[in-house]
Amino acid sequence: MTAPPLLLGIETSCDDTAAAVLQGHDLHSNVVSSQHDVHAQYGGIVPELASRNHERYIGPVVRQALEDAGASPVDIDGVAVTRGPGLPGALLVGLSFAKAFASACSCPVVGVNHLKGHLYSTHVTAPGPEVPFVSLIVSGGHTQLVHVKPNHTYTVLGQTRDDAAGEAFDKVAQLLNLGYPGGPEVDRLAQQGDPAFHAFPRSKFDDLSFSFSGLKTSVLYFLRDIPEDEREVFIKQYRADICASFQQAVIDVLVDAVRRAVAQTGVRHATVVGGVSANSGLRAALSRFQEDANVRIHLPERRFCMDNAAMIAAAARASWGSTLPEPNLDIDPRLSLS
Ligand code: KG4
Ligand code: ZN
Repeated sequence: MTAPPLLLGIETSCDDTAAAVLQGHDLHSNVVSSQHDVHAQYGGIVPELASRNHERYIGPVVRQALEDAGASPVDIDGVAVTRGPGLPGALLVGLSFAKAFASACSCPVVGVNHLKGHLYSTHVTAPGPEVPFVSLIVSGGHTQLVHVKPNHTYTVLGQTRDDAAGEAFDKVAQLLNLGYPGGPEVDRLAQQGDPAFHAFPRSKFDDLSFSFSGLKTSVLYFLRDIPEDEREVFIKQYRADICASFQQAVIDVLVDAVRRAVAQTGVRHATVVGGVSANSGLRAALSRFQEDANVRIHLPERRFCMDNAAMIAAAARASWGSTLPEPNLDIDPRLSLS
């Protein structure tokens, strides 16, 4: 039996420069260089800075991934690189590097949809659930419910009408002076807080769409209602409770959406992926939900929740050998799933 191809994954769609070496379900290396500190002082991602930092780190990150894998460039059978959606300049750095690498090593390069990468984050080191299943992608840039069907067909069942769930975490964290990205810190504080401290609104629509901008604004108004001279002390005293109450509202909305998507499609398996799927409160709520409902929830390992290149290689592995070479492979910053 021939060995599965040795794939080099490259991911630069946002503010993480990442490379990984994957062979079948054996992950030989997984390197992520995060630029969070660079963007923290601006409270969000500055596209120009992101591209410049990708340019600086892509070489060392790929070298590290090869070294960790004990592989030399000529061992690589193919390169999988994110071609969209994402920041144009950031995507261009990854794609240009991937093309140059593939050309130098005489191997093919394939473009991968970043969202498809997240969908495969539950399949990196193990086969993962078989299609059909429903997947909730919850990250800093996306909140989408997808029906994953045979032959790599995807139906978007619903998506956010405004902010992504991770964006709401980041913006609320900013209101509470918790730094960027705020999700991990809100998660940490929420574990010490009371989710019933304040009832923030849960948006719900007849279809499977989402909205998080109202929730974020209600946290803003809640804080604005505190007299200005008392606000700082109030935030300090109740920060954990505010985080827990806000996070509970997000969790209720997300779990309810998974419940309805499963009922609508009749599937028995669901995955929840993307940066927000690292949230401990959400993971606990989903595990309680699967005990009550007749459905199995699959979550990525925490190291595959946030952007990484292992999931990009895993997505390419799924259709390796059946995709035609793309001589004019280009970035598509607005690439969608369906
Ligand atoms: O998937 P990802 O790395 O990038 C995008 O594709 O957008 O997701 C990043 C997002 C950020 O908004 C970050 O605050 C959020 O995921 N995040 C979390 C947690 N860890 C990361 N949100 C809630 N709880 C967490 N533990
Ligand atoms: Zn992502």
